[in-house]
Amino acid sequence: MASDGVLLEATGITKVFGGVRAVDDVSLQVREGTIHALIGPNGAGKTTFFNAISGFAFPERGRVTFRGTDVTRLVNWRRIAMGMGRTFQTPSIFPELSVDANIRLGVSAHAKQAFRLRAPRGEAKAAVDGRVDELLGFVNLIAQRDRPLAELAHGSQRLCEIAMSLSTDPVLVLLDEPMAGLAEAETDRIIGVIRDLRVRLGLTVLFVEHNMRVVLSLADRITVLDRGKLLAEGTPAEIAANEAVRSAYLGEGVLDHV
Ligand SMILES: Nc1ncnc2c1ncn2[C@@H]1O[C@H](COP(=O)(O)OP(=O)(O)OP(=O)(O)O)[C@@H](O)[C@H]1O
Ligand SMILES: [Mg+2]
Repeated sequence: MASDGVLLEATGITKVFGGVRAVDDVSLQVREGTIHALIGPNGAGKTTFFNAISGFAFPERGRVTFRGTDVTRLVNWRRIAMGMGRTFQTPSIFPELSVDANIRLGVSAHAKQAFRLRAPRGEAKAAVDGRVDELLGFVNLIAQRDRPLAELAHGSQRLCEIAMSLSTDPVLVLLDEPMAGLAEAETDRIIGVIRDLRVRLGLTVLFVEHNMRVVLSLADRITVLDRGKLLAEGTPAEIAANEAVRSAYLGEGVLDHV
């Protein structure tokens, strides 16, 4: 960890697709123990920026530092091993498998690395079982553990995904639109779990979200992108009052009631 409390730092990130600068010279610092939101209108470059941070795409320019180490050119699984977990805007789950099996896949893959040559088979299995139970308990899906994921409500599927992102023991969790398409009651469940990521697990969170009520209630810091560029950065109060942010969202109504 860098001594100044900055867990993740992205500096001058630029990613070009064809002629389009999807992300154009964007910088951001995520401090340890904070919940940080990344917002912006559709196509602003949020997912592209997430991909650059997590190593699912390499930027043409810029630098990503995680826990004090330059990871700009590191492949994604190495960043995951360093403690970076993430979920995807398009869920990466196995709908026909049970909740338990989905989470177990992630935990087993991680344990294989962690226990290789170190623990006898039985011990490794007990550790995997224990961790799966822990994660199911954390997202409150114990009762549904044997049901195929496809049968669950959309919100529960999202919770399962969050649990899967925790299977690699991250210190930083990146969530890309964890509440997309959910009803209000389901949204509140996810809000509770994201809060618990910090409060109960002591993790740092960077999340993308369109619902401004959610963003303002959860985030300590907010970074705003617009058409690939950094538009603003600040506290929820600062962002809600920011004229440039208000005009970028004009007509979408998202800031009308805040
Ligand atoms: N693989 C790709 N190839 C070409 N263009 C892309 C690719 N991925 C993204 N883009 C373009 O880059 C821009 C930013 O897209 P991105 O998905 O990062 O936006 P976003 O802020 O996540 O949007 P949304 O809120 O809709 O998820 C868009 O113009 C998009 O069309
Ligand atoms: Mg996106």
